[in-house]
Amino acid sequence: MADRPGIRHLAETDSTNSACQRLALAGERGPLWVITDRQRKGRGRLGREWQDGAGNFMASGLFHLGLPIGQLAQAGFVSALAVAETLEHFAPGADFRLKWPNDVLLDGAKICGILPETGQGPNGVWLILGVGINLAHAPVIADRSICALRECLHPGASLPSARQVLDVLASRMQDWLAILQEQGFVPVRSAWLDRAHGLGRSISISGLGEGVFEDIDETGALCMRRADQSVKQIHAGEIFFT
Ligand code: BTN
Repeated sequence: MADRPGIRHLAETDSTNSACQRLALAGERGPLWVITDRQRKGRGRLGREWQDGAGNFMASGLFHLGLPIGQLAQAGFVSALAVAETLEHFAPGADFRLKWPNDVLLDGAKICGILPETGQGPNGVWLILGVGINLAHAPVIADRSICALRECLHPGASLPSARQVLDVLASRMQDWLAILQEQGFVPVRSAWLDRAHGLGRSISISGLGEGVFEDIDETGALCMRRADQSVKQIHAGEIFFT
């Protein structure tokens, strides 16, 4: 991935993922980041909404990677790694962990959510990686533990702007996407597991039962060992630590 990504800054939009999708359908190839100050209809995983907040980071990257469509799901893991490294750049020493499939946590609380989407356009299969990071504010959502970067900065350190975060993130993302393209999922999986939250812990997954979070496999599926010692591979859903 030699191209340096372009950046478009929108004062307001419905959703940066939707904005990227419109661009892809209109023939934009990327790599391109769309960043906004305000999202009216921010979208989260599993059909949820994503609340915006002044000073928070909301951006989506548009890519045509030429990877088989089955491999594109692995780009979500790449994004989470790139976000964790970016946040460490601004908050050295803080312990950012990754929750399957692609949340970023700080001390067990969610600081970043990622919404990967794919589709077919005039230039082939597009990949959009939508990233929401709580920089200044953590929205209050019942039964969810959520935090913001502001809470873990060293005394005297200033909170980076969304645009400063994007400059680092876009570069980290290019590096990790190039690794995925050139070397496949093996190094991505290994780096992701090094930062995994809750490996070895008891989990439940809505509708799919309970077990122990044992691993992620070579496709990115979560491997859950059940009480009868069988291993269930889970491709989508939300895990709860019990
Ligand atoms: C999640 O549910 O954890 C994923 C949240 C993803 C939110 C980001 S904010 C920028 C981009 N635009 C959207 O509409 N969603 C993603």
